[in-house]
Amino acid sequence: MGELTRFTVTLDSELLEQFDELVSTRGTQSNRSETVRDLVRDALVQRVAAEPDAQVAGTVTMVYDHHASDLSDTLNDIQHRYVGEIVSTLHIHLDAHSCLEVIVVRGTQRRVRAIADELLGTKGVSHGELVLTAVVEGPNAHPHQHPHPHD
Ligand code: NI
Repeated sequence: MGELTRFTVTLDSELLEQFDELVSTRGTQSNRSETVRDLVRDALVQRVAAEPDAQVAGTVTMVYDHHASDLSDTLNDIQHRYVGEIVSTLHIHLDAHSCLEVIVVRGTQRRVRAIADELLGTKGVSHGELVLTAVVEGPNAHPHQHPHPHD
């Protein structure tokens, strides 16, 4: 972690009130500085994740009806084509018809997005979403960094 620097932010009272409300929703441990740090880190991660060649990791979450013709096979085929990027798949049978699948993906942003588009664009997938985060180097680069065993 770098040296801590204090700086002043000027906000109008209305925006400050809304900001403090946001701070208060984040739990008792949270304060203005902590919240600003998290927002800055989030913005930096999102900026990196927007680069086509950025290394990203994320999840594709989708819901589909496994009775729809050939859909399970089609989705399975797609996943077998991208074994380098698809890290893990969690399949939950929601009810008699619906399946929920959460697929963990990793690779360049361009590639991961293309895989997600192919999965989510498959006919019969009723809805879904891709959530990405950038794989950023450095000890203080990510707000949810796990402690390193050698630190
Ligand atoms: Ni199922």
